[in-house]
Amino acid sequence: MYEDLEKVLITQEQIRARINELADEISRDYEGKEVMLVGVLKGAVFFMTHLAHALKIPARLDFLGIASFSPGKALPGVVRISKDLDQDIQGMDVLVVEDIVDTGLTLRYLLNILSGRQPNSLVVCTFLDKSARRLVDIPVKYRCFDIPDRFVVGFGLDYDQRYRTLPCVGILKSHIYQNP
Ligand code: IMP
Ligand code: MG
Repeated sequence: MYEDLEKVLITQEQIRARINELADEISRDYEGKEVMLVGVLKGAVFFMTHLAHALKIPARLDFLGIASFSPGKALPGVVRISKDLDQDIQGMDVLVVEDIVDTGLTLRYLLNILSGRQPNSLVVCTFLDKSARRLVDIPVKYRCFDIPDRFVVGFGLDYDQRYRTLPCVGILKSHIYQNP
């Protein structure tokens, strides 16, 4: 898979170190509380597992699956829930764990749904942030890395369901998504 990368943007070591740092920050902020980690499938699974291991506070886990309404027709932000949470989040301190926030449209939709279920608090924690591409103002409290506007894969992020298992984050060679 490495041969399909233009370059490695973030190494495995940098990822580990930064997740540990972020987990310490979250553990301090939520001291004495229990968090509910809500991971967005499938991209956030790798980040969420590492983060959960590094937290020093108790945490529950749950997952949400989302799917685009019209695959192929790139309608950004038009998504539906394909797998809902198993647990009730009412009164809980919820941390939405995402792989990447790009335009912010997906997250705006999710936050609208989740806030309607009356959690005690609802905060976003993302592995990557392409903040330069934001179209809607989304409160992102925790982020591991802010990245430039390039298409990246690895550590959960995919192109056409591939490359998720790469342990680093890399920029995909553009000919791969320009001539699939
Ligand atoms: P948003 O609604 O524009 O914020 O889109 C977020 C979704 O787009 C993410 O959850 C990813 O699935 C996908 N995405 C955005 N940028 C990338 C990227 O560079 N690599 C892989 N997926 C991406
Ligand atoms: Mg995603």
